[in-house]
Amino acid sequence: MASPKFFQLLLLIFTLFHHTVSGHELMHICSVSANYSTNDPYETSLTALLSYLNNEAPSTGFAMGSQGEGLNQTHGLALCRGDLSSTDCENCVFLASNGIVNECPHNKGAITVHEACTVRYSNNNFLGQTLNNVMLCTTSEKNVNGVIPEFGQKTQEFLSKISIEALLQPKFYKAGKLDIDMYGTVYGYAQCSEDLSLTNCNKCLTKSLSYLRECGDEKDGVSVYSGNCRVRYEIYPFLNDVNFSTTPAYAPYPGPNAMSPYPAPESSAHGLEYRVPVVIGLLSLFF
Ligand SMILES: *[C@@H]1O[C@H](CO)[C@@H](O)[C@H](O)[C@H]1NC(C)=O
Ligand SMILES: *[C@@H]1O[C@H](CO)[C@@H](O)[C@H](O)[C@H]1NC(C)=O
Ligand SMILES: *[C@@H]1O[C@H](CO)[C@@H](O)[C@H](O)[C@H]1NC(C)=O
Repeated sequence: MASPKFFQLLLLIFTLFHHTVSGHELMHICSVSANYSTNDPYETSLTALLSYLNNEAPSTGFAMGSQGEGLNQTHGLALCRGDLSSTDCENCVFLASNGIVNECPHNKGAITVHEACTVRYSNNNFLGQTLNNVMLCTTSEKNVNGVIPEFGQKTQEFLSKISIEALLQPKFYKAGKLDIDMYGTVYGYAQCSEDLSLTNCNKCLTKSLSYLRECGDEKDGVSVYSGNCRVRYEIYPFLNDVNFSTTPAYAPYPGPNAMSPYPAPESSAHGLEYRVPVVIGLLSLFF
């Protein structure tokens, strides 16, 4: 059971984050360690960086770069979920990067996490590093363990296996599915940001899986997101590359300006009306 201190920390973090689940955004964090003012050269560098990321990320699903010099310098990346088409990737990066500069208008560092992509930038060069990451866990409301006692253990083994396989992929992304007797099929993926080393990817996924066990125990759908990697499983197909159903749980964006609630409405057909977000981590360690 989580301690009262843990809940105090959560409350503090929620307050600091201005956590929103508007549109497809799952979380965002504005770094308060450095700010810039309107017309600061940093703003010029940031605009150039985001434009670069928007142009480059869709074709491969990942882009990173730096712009500017000295105090004007900014570093950033955009990462799309490994199964996305370049159009879906483009839409997500567009929404995410426009959203985050509005949400963190004068902060030199920020991160936004969507189900389909992550956009992150900072005046500190974080590329390649896995810090003590802030992690977000979302779960379905539905418990399964009472019905299928071995469900938790099987899904954890499945995600561990997928995570190890992800390490061996050039894009650090692996999706898969597992048939569980008497239950059905579980679908999942593991993915690291491509700037990480193998060692740091492994660290990030290992940490995420152990958090997933804690926060998602007994749930039939769980996701753990952070700035550097993600893991997720569901009991319905939600990925484009693993038995994608005709009613996807992740609906492609209708357009850059369209907003719809998360999760996509059709997921209620799978008994997932509610997702419960939980954020863990320390802001000061993030940037
Ligand atoms: C940056 O701005 C935030 C408010 O948006 C403020 O809380 C913070 O102290 C500022 N940081 C610095 C280093 O000035
Ligand atoms: C930041 O950019 C401004 C304008 O481009 C330039 O004058 C200044 O020297 C730059 N500062 C650093 C530390 O590079
Ligand atoms: C899922 O894909 C496998 C092959 O990877 C295929 O054998 C199976 O029939 C598919 N299931 C559905 C429900 O489409």
